[in-house]
Amino acid sequence: MILKIDKSQYKKDFNRPRIALTIGTRPEAIKMAPVVRALRRRSQELETIVIATAQHRQMLDQVLELFEITPDIDLNVMQPQQTLSDLTCRVMSLMNDTLRELSPDMLLVQGDTTTVFGSAMAAFYNRIPVGHIEAGLRSYDIHNPFPEEINRRLTTVLAKMHFAPTALSRDQLLQEGVCADNILITGNTVVDALHYQLDRPFRLEKTPLEHIPMTNRRILLVTSHRRESWGNDLQNICLAIKLLVERFSDLIVVYPVHMNPVVQKTAHEVLGNTERIFLTGPLDYHTFIHLMKRSYLILTDSGGVQEEAPTLRKPLLVLRKLTERPEAMQAGMAKVVGARPELIVQEAAHLLNDPVAYASMIRGENPFGDGHAGERIVQYLLNMTCQEHASSQSTRNIPFSPVPHAYSL
Ligand code: UD1
Ligand code: UDP
Repeated sequence: MILKIDKSQYKKDFNRPRIALTIGTRPEAIKMAPVVRALRRRSQELETIVIATAQHRQMLDQVLELFEITPDIDLNVMQPQQTLSDLTCRVMSLMNDTLRELSPDMLLVQGDTTTVFGSAMAAFYNRIPVGHIEAGLRSYDIHNPFPEEINRRLTTVLAKMHFAPTALSRDQLLQEGVCADNILITGNTVVDALHYQLDRPFRLEKTPLEHIPMTNRRILLVTSHRRESWGNDLQNICLAIKLLVERFSDLIVVYPVHMNPVVQKTAHEVLGNTERIFLTGPLDYHTFIHLMKRSYLILTDSGGVQEEAPTLRKPLLVLRKLTERPEAMQAGMAKVVGARPELIVQEAAHLLNDPVAYASMIRGENPFGDGHAGERIVQYLLNMTCQEHASSQSTRNIPFSPVPHAYSL
């Protein structure tokens, strides 16, 4: 693998610190978009370079187009049915070359994917400081979620700055010995992205939802794609969905199926051609959040959806054994139900039958932020880089304001 970067295009402007961001998958793009937007608003003071590893291809492009982000560099690493090891090697190797050529003042990574870990490692080898967005989430079980729990923990060790979405994630970082000065509570940038897209007009026509009969129906929205669920667990989840549709005649299920071929195969084998069950391809984010808004109940093993459902005040059943995002559960807005069909059916039926139980799950306060996380991150970067510039170039007069450690949400 040889990467060619036109160096003349990336001459360093020593008056503006250079911030590079790496984006690999759909959720990273959604959660980085508010940071890119906030950085662009400060383009006089900070130079921004967006690097797409394209660990996902189609699902990433869907989001980039929606948020009008054109990557400066696209590493195009995705291969069909890529293995974790191959993917890690490709990301690390190409990010190494990219970072060596660009020498940014900081690399921002978001979340817990292979792109995040591989990019953070490459940055470390090139002595480039890493800022980790959505830092400090923990399940304390290295196999759940797999391999994300480990990706996230390893990134903590490699990062210089930790943008924690909640007080809980900050506390978990402190327990691991991360210095308080290097943690900033920001809220989760997904809330920024969600508000931004909700404010834009939406039309159902010409979306994959157009022909789904939704009037006078309750919609059960399902997403499930996690590696640790592949095989029996995913099959059981699908069986539970079938049982629910049989039991509730006013229910329709919409399941936008992830492009991973393993997930596609199981979902279509168990649920394909079933009355009132609609399997679609991945929906573009704008369409997906409108589907969330119209849904009665959400069943998911997704990380991002666990944060969005409480923001939209939709009751949520988490199709995992445990979650590194317990805040929604603690706020009474989500329940972890695992992959046992009896429990999934029991909990979903309870919410579908009992309006009081349903109402009790939509009362809590959204624990994931106020929609200004991107701005906080960028304000921090401005303060930090100005401070570093000032100390390295003492003859220059660059304004400096103190670095904030926490914001109340
Ligand atoms: C990855 C992340 C996971 C995240 C998920 C978000 C890792 C290890 N996993 O899982 O944390 O929750 O993305 O969706 O980083 N594919 C396509 N087109 C696409 C996307 C995927 O064809 O746009 C297919 C390809 O065959 C690809 C496979 O899906 O090889 C797996 O993609 P990969 O990114 O390795 O894993 P995900 O299961 O998507
Ligand atoms: N999402 C989307 N289209 C879909 C399904 C999900 O845009 O068809 C969005 C969802 O709103 C959330 C993100 O994708 O913001 C979650 O991605 P995913 O579940 O793939 O990854 P995870 O969050 O589990 O890492």
